[in-house]
Amino acid sequence: MGRLQDKVAIVTGGASGIGERIVKLFRSEGATVVAADINQAALDKISENDGIHGKKLDVTSEEDWTALLKDVKDEFGSIDILINNAGISSEKTIGEIDYPEWEKMLKINGFGTLIGMKHTLPYMAEAKSGSIVNLSSVTAMVGMGLNTYTSSKGSVRAMSKAAATEYGRFGVRVNAVFPGVIQTPMTEALESSSAALERINAMTPLQRLGKPEEVANAILFLASDEAAYITGAELPIDGGYSAL
Ligand SMILES: NC(=O)c1ccc[n+]([C@@H]2O[C@H](COP(=O)([O-])OP(=O)(O)OC[C@H]3O[C@@H](n4cnc5c(N)ncnc54)[C@H](O)[C@@H]3O)[C@@H](O)[C@H]2O)c1
Repeated sequence: MGRLQDKVAIVTGGASGIGERIVKLFRSEGATVVAADINQAALDKISENDGIHGKKLDVTSEEDWTALLKDVKDEFGSIDILINNAGISSEKTIGEIDYPEWEKMLKINGFGTLIGMKHTLPYMAEAKSGSIVNLSSVTAMVGMGLNTYTSSKGSVRAMSKAAATEYGRFGVRVNAVFPGVIQTPMTEALESSSAALERINAMTPLQRLGKPEEVANAILFLASDEAAYITGAELPIDGGYSAL
């Protein structure tokens, strides 16, 4: 019996990096998993796995969310878990930020997470059960450069707590995780710079970057019934970076 046996889970950004690992882990724990992503080619690839259903979603589109959730409910009968993982990053400094840059980052990372919750919560509230995990970032907890990415992940942090307090009475849990630097396509450029790697390792008690499966394992716990009394929690998955 898997830790997510018979659950139906939606993972946004589920076709790459951390999301792909979550999708595969959840499937191995018995869930029916919907990998929802904007990248159709990557979705086609991940859908080759039995029990993993790739569905196109732009997290910034309310129409896409409405259609996806109806589709999932009709096809699989429930929506038990939502992982708001889709995101983009930016290295731009405060001096380089303009409105289009601000809007792009806040739209995908912030608004995308907000409307993911907005459209999913009614299904979960009606079922009196559900678990949402939002991907923030360690950059929302400690000073790591003031840019639009930090702002967008700070909004995810605040929204997660707000949703947890509002929906606890409906039996829905909302938690947030705060990854440090994890080895995925998002951080490829950084990984190829030995100076940057050295700097990050020196500031990380465990002295290495994280792996996508290490983030997926923590999210599995929060998504599962093992975390039944945990909501509004903030879990860093950062090798101790935020503890310094
Ligand atoms: N990798 C890290 O070091 C790190 C650290 C902290 C937080 N995070 C967060 O973890 C999450 C996953 O990051 P990753 O490193 O796996 O990145 P990634 O680039 O490998 O994957 C991101 C996925 O999101 C999808 N996506 C982007 N825009 C989308 C949209 N509008 N609609 C639907 N899907 C969209 C992409 O197609 C891709 O599949 C992100 O929210 C990221 O900010 C990552």
